[in-house]
Amino acid sequence: MKQDLIVILDLGSTQNTVIAREIRELGVYSEIHPHDITANELKSFDNLKGIILNGGENRVVNGQEVEICPDLYDLGCPMISIDYPQSKCESKFSTLPTQEELKNFILKECNAEANWNMKNFIEDQVERIRQQVGDKKVLLALSGGVDSSVVAAMLIKAIGQQLVCVHVNHGLMRKNESESVVKVFRDELHANLIYVDASERFLGKLEGVSDPEQKRKIIGSEFIRVFEEEARKLEGIDFLGQGTIYPDIIESGTKTAKMVKSHHNVGGLPEDLKFELVEPLKQLFKDEVRACGVELGLPHDMVYRQPFPGPGLGVRCLGAITRDRLEAVRESDAILREEFAKTGLDKKVWQYFTVVPDFKSVGMKNHARVFEYMVIIRAINTVDAMTASIEKVDWDVLERITERILTEVSNVNRVCYDMSPKPPATIEFE
Ligand code: XMP
Repeated sequence: MKQDLIVILDLGSTQNTVIAREIRELGVYSEIHPHDITANELKSFDNLKGIILNGGENRVVNGQEVEICPDLYDLGCPMISIDYPQSKCESKFSTLPTQEELKNFILKECNAEANWNMKNFIEDQVERIRQQVGDKKVLLALSGGVDSSVVAAMLIKAIGQQLVCVHVNHGLMRKNESESVVKVFRDELHANLIYVDASERFLGKLEGVSDPEQKRKIIGSEFIRVFEEEARKLEGIDFLGQGTIYPDIIESGTKTAKMVKSHHNVGGLPEDLKFELVEPLKQLFKDEVRACGVELGLPHDMVYRQPFPGPGLGVRCLGAITRDRLEAVRESDAILREEFAKTGLDKKVWQYFTVVPDFKSVGMKNHARVFEYMVIIRAINTVDAMTASIEKVDWDVLERITERILTEVSNVNRVCYDMSPKPPATIEFE
């Protein structure tokens, strides 16, 4: 291990991530683990410098107080407890420790070295992956999103050709997105990449389906089916790589915290396709994942891209998807992104995209009446996507985008700007 480690044991605190981040800000690597981790498991972390028993309001599960394994006290490792009255630690805090107290514990009592940086993190993870995987193969669904791209780059560094990436193009990707995944991973990083163009298959399944939830379900389940078919064609795969990051674990529920939403990247794979998971990013926060991607040499655009929903442009081509409107969403989105990049708005605005509703309006082109679609532009800012405010885009920029959309995108005669905050509107339209 390159870096010293402080372990936070989750005994029902809602502050685990706050403490983990505070410790990382001191330059020391920290990991959060469930309360029932065993002394032997902890002993396997060779640079373990200290343990924080982190109790809190969720300490009672099903009427029972959660406890740590008693032999953890015999590890001889410096320990403090927070909001965990029955702990046998000498240092007990009934409120969060102050920054100074935490710093004192980490740097003085634990004598931890401030050697947490992405270079060391990557070296440690590469070592862990090699130990876990040996000479076996790992399969990875590579969507081209930030998390799967970073995990792919990490696995390529660790095990090279033992990694098999599958990129499924569901036909709802943004302009040139699949091409860029192939270019970066196959041509530049020399990954073993299987590209599956399943566009026709997805569009066929979605034909005539207008209910948003139904559309999402079809896209999600079809994705798993295509991935499963590819997995079955391959032989000798024992592991599945996953771009799980720390917020996914929290949202899916821990042993003490309730589920917010399920993360089902692989949940849908059939029972007989059994893989052991390789999840090298699962202790990282989103900004750290991006920093890791940069350190691994991924292009800036790929690592700092804005959030993009799994069902892709499918939820921005409103109602039943038609090819002409899907093309209008794809082309107008490309124009919007190009123009935002020219003015630097791409670095300022959290999320921006276009949608095309499923109705037409009257207009006039070349002195003749036309009956065509409308493009709606949406640009929002948010911290956590729970609430959002609109970006007050400069009028000149909006005019230029509008002019380009009206001249370059077929079947469109009208452009609108969405002024609605969240709530009451959501960020996406479907
Ligand atoms: P809403 O529309 O709920 O969106 O305000 C909040 C954020 O989540 C993104 N989003 C998704 N991301 N799969 C994803 O990975 C999805 O199905 C999905 N639906 C919405 C949305 O783009 C916004 O950033």
